Amino acid sequence: MTVDSPLVILTLIDFPSTIPLQVWQFRDNQPIRVGRAHDNDVVLDHALVSRYHMEIQPQSTDALPSWQVINQGANGTFLNGALVTRILLPETGMLQLAKDGPVLQFQILASPQVSVPAASHCQHEGNAPDNIFCIHCRELLVPVQRVIGGYRVIKTIGQGGMGTTFLALDPMGSRPSPLLVLKEMHDEMADIAKAQELFTREARVLQTLDHPGIPRYYASFVEDGKRFLAMELIHGLNLAEWVNVHGRVSVDLAIDWMYQVCQILDYLHSRQPPLVHRDIKPANLILRRYDRQIVLLDFGAVKEIGTNQGTRIGSNAGYTAPEQHQGRPCPQSDLYAVGATLLFLVTGKQPDTFYRRSENGSHGIDISEVSDIPGVLRSIITQLTKLDPRERIPTAAALGEMLAQCRIRH
Ligand SMILES: Nc1ncnc2c1ncn2[C@@H]1O[C@H](COP(=O)(O)OP(=O)(O)O)[C@@H](O)[C@H]1O
Ligand SMILES: [Mg+2]
Repeated sequence: MTVDSPLVILTLIDFPSTIPLQVWQFRDNQPIRVGRAHDNDVVLDHALVSRYHMEIQPQSTDALPSWQVINQGANGTFLNGALVTRILLPETGMLQLAKDGPVLQFQILASPQVSVPAASHCQHEGNAPDNIFCIHCRELLVPVQRVIGGYRVIKTIGQGGMGTTFLALDPMGSRPSPLLVLKEMHDEMADIAKAQELFTREARVLQTLDHPGIPRYYASFVEDGKRFLAMELIHGLNLAEWVNVHGRVSVDLAIDWMYQVCQILDYLHSRQPPLVHRDIKPANLILRRYDRQIVLLDFGAVKEIGTNQGTRIGSNAGYTAPEQHQGRPCPQSDLYAVGATLLFLVTGKQPDTFYRRSENGSHGIDISEVSDIPGVLRSIITQLTKLDPRERIPTAAALGEMLAQCRIRH
């Protein structure tokens, strides 16, 4: 294969899966500046990355072009895992900006008009067992399980009440990453008109939404009588998985995450007509690994206020507000679920383990006897999980402000 250009290819990858997220190609022999500031050639908006973090500079010594990397970042630059300040780059490898920061895979082509090995010659050496793409030639390393609607299914990532969620590859796509998520409705569900309606609703609602905390919608289609939804893949663990792996969460982190959820809910609740998500819970919130922002999933149960309120949707581990159980969801039902999620995050226990019967006979979350929840948070959770939605903190924006205050005081 002959190439005129480019000289340097940088690919932002999800680590360790090596899924490509974004690609930059540089054809001129100029320094490449990488950092958080917007005037860099490669802008990486990540908390651990400095405004001007590193520079990749051409060395014009001999016929063979060579490039060196120079660290300028406060948190350091790592070449293939080793901390470096200034070093010549090999042909391929990984540059990480700060330990735990974003990873750029680089490929330096010898020079214009020079042959590079075709992918078929690559031995795929040095790949980790769970790599999906080869770190050298980017060939797919895992078998394709099946093809649906032209998308190649690689693995199952979720099995929920309403359907199965797959990781899939779009060979024809023009997006930076060829990977996406396909959601399929269960066979037995396909017969139920209500489930079909929910699925159609998820597609219709996702199509109209535009927020960094909500996956982008790509397409929906029917194949062999089953409905599928294609959407943006969010890399990271959902919060149920996160607590499973890392244990319960610090108060600061829980507040920070729920503050972000409030911003997403404020967006949904401010739509005309307002949208109520109706299924806020840890498994439907992903912590995006790249920028550590929370993304809200699963719009199957979303409801426009003012439409028929008939269906009862909700999880059963104590995240669903009582009025929603009774078929009357309102925006404050989502805030109840945020309170229940906060409780789960800081205790590691499902909210229904805190159900108590009060003196007037009502049954609900009661944390007055739980000792290890700090005062500020206890008051917020108590206000959010009131049985009467009118007694709760009124809006997502108001709750967001309270959580922000809580962070300052804490
Ligand atoms: N866009 C996505 N990106 C990454 N993971 C996803 C995405 N959508 C779903 N998942 C994963 O699959 C699981 C199930 O998906 P979800 O949409 O919640 O369906 P359901 O709960 O109806 O089965 C989620 O908890 C999440 O871990
Ligand atoms: Mg779900």
